[in-house]
Amino acid sequence: MTISAVETILLAGKPVAAEIKSGLSRSIAALKSGGITPGLAAVLVGEDPASQIYVRNKAKAFVKAGCFSETFRMAGDVPQAKLLQLIEDLNRDVRFHGILVQLPLPDHIETKKVIYRIAPEKDVDGFHPVNLGRLLEGVPNFIPCTPHGILKILEHYRIPVKGRQAVILGRSNIVGKPLFALLSQKSKYGNATVTLCHTATPDLAYFTRQADLLIAASGVPGLVTGSMVKQGVDIIDVGINRIADSSPKGYHITGDVDFESVQGIANSITPVPGGVGPMTITMLLYNTVKAAQNLFESQN
Ligand code: GUN
Repeated sequence: MTISAVETILLAGKPVAAEIKSGLSRSIAALKSGGITPGLAAVLVGEDPASQIYVRNKAKAFVKAGCFSETFRMAGDVPQAKLLQLIEDLNRDVRFHGILVQLPLPDHIETKKVIYRIAPEKDVDGFHPVNLGRLLEGVPNFIPCTPHGILKILEHYRIPVKGRQAVILGRSNIVGKPLFALLSQKSKYGNATVTLCHTATPDLAYFTRQADLLIAASGVPGLVTGSMVKQGVDIIDVGINRIADSSPKGYHITGDVDFESVQGIANSITPVPGGVGPMTITMLLYNTVKAAQNLFESQN
């Protein structure tokens, strides 16, 4: 008798993003009828091609949702003081409820100094220490967009979290660390036992094989293979790695997980592209609408 492998379920991001955007459209209409159009200031420093695409897509999504968005571009060699001055101007500019500084920044700029300068009430990325501190305390205001999007995917597809072994690969401030806090918290999409693996973790496979829920956010293409995971694992692939090729675009996008080799082993997996990616911009919209609502409530 042969036992056929169970088909791995695809956790597409688009339907989840569509559902959230449809809820947000009601909030946006209500704000507009109260005289507030949620506005985002996106700051782009330098010419990084991936960053340019992200910022363009963010601006497009805001306009499509009936919100306001303006992109502020600065040369790659801009003095730090000039960038800090722009952020202070944007902090005071009432047209903008959210400020996003696209990362990574050029090497001569101290990223932390820039993030610390953003007013916490406009920090829709959720990277300011006030917002990260609130997240760690369990009283978040702005949850960083990618981890927040991951929670929404888990919720939409009813992937269990409580009581499971969750393993996160990658300790970035953008994904790994906030997700560690969220998945371990005593909350609806928390209560997991969480292990955070990183570049100094010896024998990564030892940890990944224990995962009921595996979140790959390492930035290493194809790091996770079928032999490193157990049957029935649910996988969230956060990787967006550009691999040069001979296609007209000159590259293709691949995840941190070797998608083919986990088929029939994993219970489910987010595709790359089309999984976590569509969620990040949606959650940025969510946070910007929330920032506008916070302002409205403070004035009424
Ligand atoms: N670069 C990669 N991801 C992000 C993000 O979520 N926010 C910002 N500002 N920059 C990024």
